Amino acid sequence: MYDLNKHYQSNKKEILQSIDKILNKGVLEMGEEVEKFEENFSKYCGVKYSVTVSSGSMGILLALKALNLKGNDEVMTVANSDIPTSHAISLAGAKIKWIDVCEETFNIDTKLLDKSINKKSKVILPVHLFGNPAEMLKIQLIAKKNNLLVIEDACLATGAEYNKKKIGSLSDLCVFSTNPGKVLDGIGSGGIITTNNKKLFITLKKLRDYGRRSRPSKWPVKSDLIGYNSKMSSINAAILNIRLKYLDSYIEKRNQNALMYMDLLDSKKIKFQKVLDNSKSAWRNFTIRVKNRNQIYSELYDKNFKVALGYLPINYKDGCYKKLGKNINLKTTEIISSEIINLPCHQYMSKKEIFKISKNILSLV
Ligand SMILES: Cc1ncc(COP(=O)(O)O)c(C=O)c1O
Repeated sequence: MYDLNKHYQSNKKEILQSIDKILNKGVLEMGEEVEKFEENFSKYCGVKYSVTVSSGSMGILLALKALNLKGNDEVMTVANSDIPTSHAISLAGAKIKWIDVCEETFNIDTKLLDKSINKKSKVILPVHLFGNPAEMLKIQLIAKKNNLLVIEDACLATGAEYNKKKIGSLSDLCVFSTNPGKVLDGIGSGGIITTNNKKLFITLKKLRDYGRRSRPSKWPVKSDLIGYNSKMSSINAAILNIRLKYLDSYIEKRNQNALMYMDLLDSKKIKFQKVLDNSKSAWRNFTIRVKNRNQIYSELYDKNFKVALGYLPINYKDGCYKKLGKNINLKTTEIISSEIINLPCHQYMSKKEIFKISKNILSLV
Protein backbone atom coordinates (compact mmCIF):
# COMPACT_ATOMS: atom_id res chain seq x y z
CA MET A 1 0.00 0.00 0.00
CA TYR A 2 3.02 2.25 -0.26
CA ASP A 3 5.60 3.45 -2.71
CA LEU A 4 8.68 2.59 -0.67
CA ASN A 5 11.05 3.82 -3.34
CA LYS A 6 9.50 7.31 -3.52
CA HIS A 7 9.45 7.30 0.27
CA TYR A 8 13.19 6.64 0.37
CA GLN A 9 13.96 9.17 -2.36
CA SER A 10 12.15 11.93 -0.49
CA ASN A 11 14.74 11.95 2.34
CA LYS A 12 17.55 9.98 0.75
CA LYS A 13 20.40 12.31 1.69
CA GLU A 14 19.33 12.66 5.32
CA ILE A 15 18.81 8.89 5.63
CA LEU A 16 22.16 7.95 4.11
CA GLN A 17 24.00 10.45 6.27
CA SER A 18 22.45 9.06 9.43
CA ILE A 19 23.16 5.43 8.44
CA ASP A 20 26.77 6.34 7.74
CA LYS A 21 27.05 8.08 11.12
CA ILE A 22 25.64 5.06 12.97
CA LEU A 23 27.78 2.50 11.14
CA ASN A 24 30.88 4.57 11.83
CA LYS A 25 29.99 4.83 15.49
CA GLY A 26 29.24 1.11 15.72
CA VAL A 27 26.24 1.18 18.11
CA LEU A 28 23.73 -0.80 16.09
CA GLU A 29 21.18 -1.80 18.69
CA MET A 30 19.31 0.59 20.99
CA GLY A 31 21.60 3.52 21.91
CA GLU A 32 21.23 7.25 21.34
CA GLU A 33 18.97 7.18 18.27
CA VAL A 34 16.52 4.78 19.93
CA GLU A 35 16.35 6.93 23.07
CA LYS A 36 15.89 10.01 20.90
CA PHE A 37 13.05 8.34 19.00
CA GLU A 38 11.31 7.37 22.24
CA GLU A 39 11.64 10.95 23.48
CA ASN A 40 10.50 12.47 20.19
CA PHE A 41 7.55 10.10 19.88
CA SER A 42 6.41 10.82 23.46
CA LYS A 43 6.48 14.54 22.66
CA TYR A 44 4.61 13.97 19.40
CA CYS A 45 1.85 11.99 21.13
CA GLY A 46 1.71 14.21 24.22
CA VAL A 47 2.45 11.30 26.52
CA LYS A 48 4.99 10.75 29.31
CA TYR A 49 6.71 7.55 28.19
CA SER A 50 7.45 5.50 25.07
CA VAL A 51 9.16 2.13 24.73
CA THR A 52 10.41 0.95 21.35
CA VAL A 53 9.99 -2.74 20.49
CA SER A 54 10.85 -5.04 17.61
CA SER A 55 7.38 -4.98 15.97
CA GLY A 56 3.77 -3.97 16.51
CA SER A 57 2.92 -7.63 17.17
CA MET A 58 5.55 -7.81 19.92
CA GLY A 59 4.29 -4.49 21.24
CA ILE A 60 0.78 -5.87 21.76
CA LEU A 61 2.17 -9.03 23.33
CA LEU A 62 4.44 -7.12 25.73
CA ALA A 63 1.65 -4.68 26.61
CA LEU A 64 -0.58 -7.62 27.58
CA LYS A 65 2.30 -9.38 29.38
CA ALA A 66 2.91 -6.23 31.43
CA LEU A 67 -0.60 -6.60 32.87
CA ASN A 68 0.09 -10.09 34.28
CA LEU A 69 -3.10 -11.63 32.97
CA LYS A 70 -4.30 -15.01 34.24
CA GLY A 71 -5.66 -17.90 32.16
CA ASN A 72 -9.32 -17.02 32.61
CA ASP A 73 -8.96 -13.30 32.12
CA GLU A 74 -10.79 -12.04 29.06
CA VAL A 75 -9.48 -9.51 26.58
CA MET A 76 -12.14 -7.97 24.37
CA THR A 77 -11.16 -7.10 20.83
CA VAL A 78 -12.37 -7.23 17.25
CA ALA A 79 -11.97 -10.01 14.68
CA ASN A 80 -11.32 -7.81 11.64
CA SER A 81 -7.77 -6.88 12.65
CA ASP A 82 -4.47 -8.20 11.46
CA ILE A 83 -4.11 -11.66 13.03
CA PRO A 84 -1.31 -10.64 15.50
CA THR A 85 -3.87 -8.73 17.59
CA SER A 86 -5.61 -11.99 18.49
CA HIS A 87 -2.37 -13.97 18.59
CA ALA A 88 -0.93 -11.60 21.21
CA ILE A 89 -3.88 -12.34 23.50
CA SER A 90 -3.41 -16.08 23.07
CA LEU A 91 0.36 -15.80 23.57
CA ALA A 92 -0.18 -13.76 26.74
CA GLY A 93 -2.18 -16.73 28.05
CA ALA A 94 -5.53 -14.91 28.26
CA LYS A 95 -8.91 -15.58 26.65
CA ILE A 96 -10.07 -13.71 23.55
CA LYS A 97 -13.56 -12.31 23.37
CA TRP A 98 -14.27 -11.09 19.87
CA ILE A 99 -16.83 -8.29 19.74
CA ASP A 100 -18.69 -7.30 16.58
CA VAL A 101 -17.88 -4.01 14.88
CA CYS A 102 -19.86 -0.92 14.00
CA GLU A 103 -21.16 -1.07 10.44
CA GLU A 104 -20.04 2.48 9.64
CA THR A 105 -16.63 2.87 11.30
CA PHE A 106 -15.54 -0.82 11.07
CA ASN A 107 -14.32 -0.43 14.68
CA ILE A 108 -15.49 -2.09 17.91
CA ASP A 109 -19.22 -1.65 18.55
CA THR A 110 -19.27 0.02 21.97
CA LYS A 111 -22.91 -0.92 22.68
CA LEU A 112 -22.09 -4.60 22.22
CA LEU A 113 -18.86 -4.14 24.16
CA ASP A 114 -20.79 -2.71 27.12
CA LYS A 115 -23.22 -5.65 27.08
CA SER A 116 -20.48 -8.25 26.90
CA ILE A 117 -18.64 -7.35 30.12
CA ASN A 118 -18.61 -10.05 32.76
CA LYS A 119 -16.58 -11.01 35.84
CA LYS A 120 -13.73 -12.37 33.71
CA SER A 121 -13.33 -9.19 31.64
CA LYS A 122 -9.97 -7.51 32.24
CA VAL A 123 -8.84 -5.61 29.16
CA ILE A 124 -10.43 -3.81 26.22
CA LEU A 125 -8.20 -3.92 23.12
CA PRO A 126 -9.76 -1.68 20.47
CA VAL A 127 -8.16 -1.52 17.02
CA HIS A 128 -8.11 1.75 15.08
CA LEU A 129 -8.78 -0.02 11.84
CA PHE A 130 -6.97 1.30 8.79
CA GLY A 131 -5.95 4.31 10.89
CA ASN A 132 -9.48 5.34 11.86
CA PRO A 133 -9.83 6.05 15.62
CA ALA A 134 -12.33 3.93 17.54
CA GLU A 135 -14.85 5.56 19.92
CA MET A 136 -12.32 6.12 22.71
CA LEU A 137 -14.56 8.24 24.97
CA LYS A 138 -17.16 5.48 25.19
CA ILE A 139 -14.48 2.81 25.52
CA GLN A 140 -12.86 4.71 28.41
CA LEU A 141 -16.24 5.15 30.11
CA ILE A 142 -16.95 1.42 29.87
CA ALA A 143 -13.44 0.65 31.15
CA LYS A 144 -13.78 3.04 34.09
CA LYS A 145 -17.23 1.76 35.04
CA ASN A 146 -15.99 -1.84 35.07
CA ASN A 147 -12.44 -1.31 36.32
CA LEU A 148 -10.85 -2.56 33.09
CA LEU A 149 -7.62 -1.59 31.40
CA VAL A 150 -7.40 -0.38 27.80
CA ILE A 151 -4.66 -1.23 25.30
CA GLU A 152 -5.11 0.37 21.89
CA ASP A 153 -3.92 -1.36 18.75
CA ALA A 154 -2.82 1.74 16.85
CA CYS A 155 -0.53 -0.17 14.51
CA LEU A 156 -2.15 1.54 11.52
CA ALA A 157 -2.99 4.82 13.23
CA THR A 158 0.24 6.72 13.85
CA GLY A 159 -0.54 10.42 13.62
CA ALA A 160 -4.32 9.95 13.86
CA GLU A 161 -6.27 12.21 16.23
CA TYR A 162 -9.21 11.85 18.58
CA ASN A 163 -10.81 14.82 20.34
CA LYS A 164 -7.91 17.00 19.19
CA LYS A 165 -5.39 14.69 20.85
CA LYS A 166 -2.95 12.42 19.08
CA ILE A 167 -3.71 8.73 19.34
CA GLY A 168 -1.19 7.44 21.90
CA SER A 169 -2.20 9.60 24.83
CA LEU A 170 -5.70 8.30 25.50
CA SER A 171 -5.45 4.98 27.34
CA ASP A 172 -3.30 2.82 29.62
CA LEU A 173 -1.13 1.56 26.75
CA CYS A 174 -1.11 2.25 23.04
CA VAL A 175 0.82 0.17 20.51
CA PHE A 176 2.09 1.33 17.11
CA SER A 177 3.83 -0.53 14.30
CA THR A 178 6.70 1.09 12.42
CA ASN A 179 7.04 -1.70 9.89
CA PRO A 180 7.79 -0.65 6.28
CA GLY A 181 4.54 0.46 4.70
CA LYS A 182 3.01 1.79 7.91
CA VAL A 183 2.08 5.47 8.18
CA LEU A 184 5.33 6.16 10.09
CA ASP A 185 7.80 3.51 9.05
CA GLY A 186 11.45 2.60 9.33
CA ILE A 187 13.56 0.20 7.31
CA GLY A 188 12.67 -2.99 9.11
CA SER A 189 10.34 -4.52 11.62
CA GLY A 190 9.65 -2.20 14.55
CA GLY A 191 7.09 -0.77 16.92
CA ILE A 192 6.56 1.56 19.86
CA ILE A 193 4.31 1.56 22.93
CA THR A 194 3.16 4.74 24.68
CA THR A 195 1.91 5.15 28.25
CA ASN A 196 1.51 7.67 31.05
CA ASN A 197 1.94 4.92 33.65
CA LYS A 198 5.49 4.82 35.07
CA LYS A 199 5.13 1.33 36.51
CA LEU A 200 3.99 -0.11 33.18
CA PHE A 201 6.76 1.83 31.42
CA ILE A 202 9.45 0.25 33.61
CA THR A 203 7.94 -3.23 33.18
CA LEU A 204 7.84 -2.81 29.40
CA LYS A 205 11.48 -1.70 29.30
CA LYS A 206 12.38 -4.88 31.14
CA LEU A 207 10.15 -7.13 29.05
CA ARG A 208 11.76 -6.02 25.79
CA ASP A 209 15.30 -6.68 27.05
CA TYR A 210 15.44 -10.06 28.83
CA GLY A 211 13.96 -8.56 31.99
CA ARG A 212 16.77 -6.04 32.47
CA ARG A 213 15.93 -2.61 33.84
CA SER A 214 18.77 -0.92 31.99
CA ARG A 215 21.35 -1.74 29.34
CA PRO A 216 24.58 -3.30 30.59
CA SER A 217 27.62 -0.98 30.32
CA LYS A 218 30.61 -1.37 32.64
CA TRP A 219 28.86 -3.92 34.85
CA PRO A 220 26.34 -6.62 33.97
CA VAL A 221 22.67 -5.98 34.76
CA LYS A 222 20.50 -8.65 36.39
CA SER A 223 17.20 -9.81 34.90
CA ASP A 224 14.32 -8.86 37.23
CA LEU A 225 11.78 -10.84 35.26
CA ILE A 226 11.59 -13.27 32.37
CA GLY A 227 11.63 -11.19 29.23
CA TYR A 228 12.15 -11.14 25.48
CA ASN A 229 14.63 -9.82 22.98
CA SER A 230 12.41 -7.18 21.39
CA LYS A 231 14.80 -4.31 20.83
CA MET A 232 14.90 -1.80 18.00
CA SER A 233 17.94 -1.27 15.78
CA SER A 234 19.69 2.10 15.84
CA ILE A 235 19.41 2.58 12.08
CA ASN A 236 15.68 1.91 12.19
CA ALA A 237 15.27 4.47 14.99
CA ALA A 238 17.39 7.05 13.15
CA ILE A 239 15.17 6.80 10.08
CA LEU A 240 12.06 7.00 12.25
CA ASN A 241 13.48 10.17 13.83
CA ILE A 242 13.86 11.68 10.37
CA ARG A 243 10.41 10.68 9.17
CA LEU A 244 8.63 11.68 12.38
CA LYS A 245 9.41 15.30 11.47
CA TYR A 246 7.26 14.87 8.35
CA LEU A 247 4.48 12.71 9.82
CA ASP A 248 1.93 15.52 10.10
CA SER A 249 2.46 16.39 6.45
CA TYR A 250 1.91 12.71 5.52
CA ILE A 251 -1.35 12.77 7.48
CA GLU A 252 -2.51 15.97 5.79
CA LYS A 253 -1.81 14.56 2.33
CA ARG A 254 -3.54 11.27 3.19
CA ASN A 255 -6.60 13.22 4.36
CA GLN A 256 -6.62 15.20 1.12
CA ASN A 257 -6.39 11.95 -0.85
CA ALA A 258 -9.29 10.47 1.12
CA LEU A 259 -11.44 13.54 0.36
CA MET A 260 -10.60 13.22 -3.31
CA TYR A 261 -11.59 9.53 -3.31
CA MET A 262 -14.90 10.39 -1.58
CA ASP A 263 -15.63 13.00 -4.18
CA LEU A 264 -14.71 10.84 -7.17
CA LEU A 265 -16.34 7.64 -5.88
CA ASP A 266 -19.61 9.25 -4.85
CA SER A 267 -22.04 6.47 -5.85
CA LYS A 268 -24.93 4.63 -4.23
CA LYS A 269 -23.03 1.40 -4.90
CA ILE A 270 -19.96 2.36 -2.89
CA LYS A 271 -19.73 2.83 0.88
CA PHE A 272 -16.87 4.44 2.76
CA GLN A 273 -15.41 3.95 6.23
CA LYS A 274 -16.91 6.64 8.46
CA VAL A 275 -14.55 8.83 10.48
CA LEU A 276 -16.14 10.17 13.69
CA ASP A 277 -16.70 13.96 13.80
CA ASN A 278 -14.15 14.32 16.61
CA SER A 279 -11.48 12.25 14.82
CA LYS A 280 -8.85 12.49 12.14
CA SER A 281 -7.88 9.23 10.46
CA ALA A 282 -4.31 8.42 9.48
CA TRP A 283 -5.77 6.74 6.36
CA ARG A 284 -3.31 3.85 6.17
CA ASN A 285 -5.44 3.01 3.17
CA PHE A 286 -8.76 4.20 1.80
CA THR A 287 -11.29 1.41 2.21
CA ILE A 288 -14.42 1.03 0.11
CA ARG A 289 -17.33 -1.40 0.48
CA VAL A 290 -18.89 -2.82 -2.67
CA LYS A 291 -21.31 -5.70 -3.28
CA ASN A 292 -19.46 -7.52 -6.06
CA ARG A 293 -16.14 -7.16 -4.22
CA ASN A 294 -14.23 -10.18 -5.51
CA GLN A 295 -14.85 -9.37 -9.15
CA ILE A 296 -13.96 -5.69 -8.77
CA TYR A 297 -10.89 -6.48 -6.67
CA SER A 298 -9.70 -9.11 -9.11
CA GLU A 299 -10.04 -6.80 -12.11
CA LEU A 300 -8.24 -3.95 -10.34
CA TYR A 301 -5.49 -6.28 -9.16
CA ASP A 302 -5.02 -7.69 -12.65
CA LYS A 303 -4.67 -4.15 -13.98
CA ASN A 304 -1.80 -3.66 -11.51
CA PHE A 305 -3.53 -1.25 -9.17
CA LYS A 306 -2.08 -1.50 -5.65
CA VAL A 307 -5.30 -2.76 -4.07
CA ALA A 308 -5.47 -5.21 -1.17
CA LEU A 309 -7.91 -7.32 0.82
CA GLY A 310 -7.07 -6.60 4.43
CA TYR A 311 -7.56 -8.33 6.83
CA LEU A 312 -8.82 -11.66 5.65
CA PRO A 313 -9.74 -14.22 6.78
CA ILE A 314 -11.60 -12.88 9.80
CA ASN A 315 -9.45 -13.70 12.87
CA TYR A 316 -11.73 -16.39 14.30
CA LYS A 317 -11.85 -18.12 10.91
CA ASP A 318 -8.07 -18.47 10.77
CA GLY A 319 -6.70 -22.03 10.83
CA CYS A 320 -5.21 -21.67 14.30
CA TYR A 321 -8.57 -20.66 15.81
CA LYS A 322 -10.55 -23.46 14.18
CA LYS A 323 -11.75 -24.79 17.52
CA LEU A 324 -12.16 -21.51 19.36
CA GLY A 325 -13.90 -19.81 16.44
CA LYS A 326 -16.26 -22.66 15.65
CA ASN A 327 -19.51 -21.21 16.94
CA ILE A 328 -18.69 -17.57 16.51
CA ASN A 329 -20.55 -15.51 13.96
CA LEU A 330 -20.21 -11.76 14.14
CA LYS A 331 -22.72 -10.54 11.60
CA THR A 332 -21.37 -7.09 10.82
CA THR A 333 -17.73 -8.22 10.82
CA GLU A 334 -18.68 -10.92 8.31
CA ILE A 335 -20.59 -8.55 6.03
CA ILE A 336 -17.92 -5.84 6.03
CA SER A 337 -15.13 -8.34 5.48
CA SER A 338 -16.89 -9.72 2.42
CA GLU A 339 -17.24 -6.26 0.89
CA ILE A 340 -14.08 -4.28 1.52
CA ILE A 341 -11.29 -3.34 -0.84
CA ASN A 342 -8.33 -1.30 0.40
CA LEU A 343 -7.13 1.38 -1.97
CA PRO A 344 -3.74 3.07 -1.68
CA CYS A 345 -3.93 6.47 0.04
CA HIS A 346 -0.32 7.28 0.84
CA GLN A 347 1.33 10.68 0.59
CA TYR A 348 3.04 9.93 -2.72
CA MET A 349 -0.22 9.27 -4.62
CA SER A 350 -0.74 11.78 -7.41
CA LYS A 351 -4.16 13.20 -8.29
CA LYS A 352 -3.81 11.42 -11.62
CA GLU A 353 -3.37 8.04 -9.92
CA ILE A 354 -6.37 8.59 -7.63
CA PHE A 355 -8.42 9.69 -10.62
CA LYS A 356 -7.41 6.64 -12.66
CA ILE A 357 -8.18 4.06 -9.98
CA SER A 358 -11.49 5.78 -9.14
CA LYS A 359 -12.54 5.84 -12.78
CA ASN A 360 -11.80 2.13 -13.07
CA ILE A 361 -13.81 1.33 -9.94
CA LEU A 362 -16.80 3.34 -11.17
CA SER A 363 -16.75 1.43 -14.44
CA LEU A 364 -16.89 -1.87 -12.50
CA VAL A 365 -19.58 -1.28 -9.82
C1 LIG B 1 -4.05 -3.64 13.13
C2 LIG B 1 -2.70 -4.25 13.25
N1 LIG B 1 -2.28 -4.74 14.42
C3 LIG B 1 -1.05 -5.29 14.56
C4 LIG B 1 -0.18 -5.38 13.51
C5 LIG B 1 1.18 -5.98 13.71
O1 LIG B 1 2.22 -5.08 13.47
P1 LIG B 1 3.66 -5.60 12.97
O2 LIG B 1 3.54 -5.95 11.54
O3 LIG B 1 4.57 -4.44 13.20
O4 LIG B 1 4.01 -6.76 13.82
C6 LIG B 1 -0.57 -4.90 12.26
C7 LIG B 1 0.33 -4.97 11.11
O5 LIG B 1 0.02 -4.64 10.01
C8 LIG B 1 -1.87 -4.32 12.13
O6 LIG B 1 -2.29 -3.86 10.96
